[in-house]
Order: sequence, then structure tokens, then C-alpha cells
Amino acid sequence: MITVDVHLDEDSGAAMAGDVRRGLSGPRKELAPKYFYDERGSQLFEQITELPEYYPTRVEREILVERSSEIVAAAGAPATLVELGSGSAAKTRHLLSAMRDAACLRTYVPVDISEEITHETAECLVEEYPGLEIHGLVCDFEHHLERIPDRDGGRIIAFLGGTIGNLYPEPRREFLARLAAMLGPDDRLLLGTDLVKDRARLEAAYNDSAGVTAEFNKNVLSVLNRELDADFDLDAFEHVADYDADRERMDIRLRSLADQAVRVTELDLEVEFAAGEEIRTEISAKFTRQGLERIYADAGLGLAGWFTDAGADYALSLARRA
Ligand SMILES: C[S@@+](CC[C@H](N)C(=O)[O-])C[C@H]1O[C@@H](n2cnc3c(N)ncnc32)[C@H](O)[C@@H]1O
Repeated sequence: MITVDVHLDEDSGAAMAGDVRRGLSGPRKELAPKYFYDERGSQLFEQITELPEYYPTRVEREILVERSSEIVAAAGAPATLVELGSGSAAKTRHLLSAMRDAACLRTYVPVDISEEITHETAECLVEEYPGLEIHGLVCDFEHHLERIPDRDGGRIIAFLGGTIGNLYPEPRREFLARLAAMLGPDDRLLLGTDLVKDRARLEAAYNDSAGVTAEFNKNVLSVLNRELDADFDLDAFEHVADYDADRERMDIRLRSLADQAVRVTELDLEVEFAAGEEIRTEISAKFTRQGLERIYADAGLGLAGWFTDAGADYALSLARRA
């Protein structure tokens, strides 16, 4: 009942090396958020979702608890749930249960860059949903969307957790346009987006008092130390996260606490940091309904359903190919 195809090979090692070289060589240093997620990074993200300050997971869960049946009906009761960036699929259970209750559930396709969590999730889910066929894909969804299997009986392609907010506008448009091109007439995209709100709540969510988000942020340096034989001293950087109201996005960085040089042996690269210099490690865009309708239209998609929590903090939207 479980198959997991792994599409991370030497190419992905080379892609990481290229990304990191480019990201650390320019005048504004930057690392892609997908490099947070080794086994430790996935565990830390799970801890973040349980923090009192981190409302997005709670409110997305609230919508899924209350409205999954409606969402599944609005999506035409499809047989397959594909999930991009599935992680532990903790909230996905509500959708799977609604599909089971509607007697349409056949296949779940978790797609994630982290191999460990994809295996663990698949094993738990076959126990919880007897008869469910699981076809996991370990790959980079920005590069390997075409590996997602096409299925009869319609699909929901879910992209939860606000992960779409990690993409800059142009790569986001390209990504959504590629997703739109994949959608058949019976397929729907289900997208989770955090909504614009006051700065204090946004900043608190990314600066938790227990310091878990800071540890998650610094984990990318541990990944580079291990994968590229770098010598980042994690104590020589601090976590910074603030809201850029003009661009409507959280801006998350690591700030060097001293003048320092870091060696990345595998890249034969020496990176100089001045005290106070930063590496951007993630953005997390916040959305409005109007803005998202425009984003969908630009990507060849049309809004087909809008579901929010009671406080209107977060939205799940259904989209179809325009
Ligand atoms: C913000 S977490 C969300 C996890 C889960 N969907 C949730 O809502 O709690 C992002 C997830 O996407 C995965 N991920 C991030 N970038 C990815 C990429 N480029 N390709 C595949 N998976 C990716 C991570 O491993 C992680 O499980």
C-alpha cells in the first residue's frame, strides 16, 4: 500500500552547492528556506507548530476541522489528495477523514523534500486509514512537479502551512502557473495562506519566547556545516524576524554578531561577514483575498472557494484552472 519514490540524487547535491555559492557570494546574502528541513529541521518545525505564539497552524487546523467536508464537496469529492510540503501531515488528517466519509478517498500523494518525515508519515497513515494507497514523492516541488502522478477521479492538490508565502512574487507566479497547467477539469488546488494582520502578532509568531524559531533558523547553518563541510559557529549569529509592511511579508534573517570569516570547504569558498551583516533565510508573505485573486488570475487560475477561521487570520482557498 506504500510506495515512496526518492528523486533526490547527485543533481540535488549539485543544486544545493550552486544555490549556496550564489547565495553567499553576492552583496546581499541569502539561503533558500528548503535547506532548513533535514531531520532535525523537520522536528523543530513540528515544535514551532505547537508554540502558543505560532497561530497559523492553529487557525489552519480550525478551518480544516470545521470545513473539510465542505471543502471536499466543493472540490467535487475527488479520489486523490496530493499534498505539497506534506511534512507530518498532522492537519491533513481532517481532509483525509472528510474524503473517507464522503466515500471518495483512494490515494494520498505526500510530496516533501525530507525523506525521513515522508516515510514516517506514510507509515502512520496506512495504519490510520486502512485501504489507503500512499504514493509518496521525495523531491523538490519547485523542480519536480511533473513527477506527480496524474489520476482518474480528480485530485485535490493541497499546499498548506502557508509555504507558498516562502516564494518571491515572480517564482511564485511561475510555480502557480505550472500547477495550473497540471490541473485537469476535475482537479482543484487547495492553498493555505496567512492573511495580513497587525505587526505585533506577526512578529510574535516568528520570535517565540522559547527560542524554537531561532533554533530552527540557525539549523540551516548546521545543514551547511554537515553537507558542505562549512565551519559556521552557530553562536556567532542571531535570529532576526520582522514585518515588512510595504511588501506584506515577514523577513527572516541571521545576523552576524562579529566580523568573521566562514570557510565552506566543499565549495572552496571563504565568506566574510561584517558585524551586523545578515543572511536572509526566509520570507513569509501575507495575503489578502483581493491580492490572492490577482495572483491566481496572473497564473491562469480562478478562485473557486474561500474558507477562513472565525478571526479571519488565515484562508484556505480552492482554485481551478481558469
Ligand atoms: C512550513 S512546513 C509545512 C508543513 C506542513 N504542510 C504544515 O502545514 O504544517 C514546509 C514543508 O515543506 C517542505 N518543503 C519545503 N521546501 C520544499 C521544496 N522545495 N520541495 C519539497 N518540500 C519542501 C518541508 O520539508 C516541510 O515539510
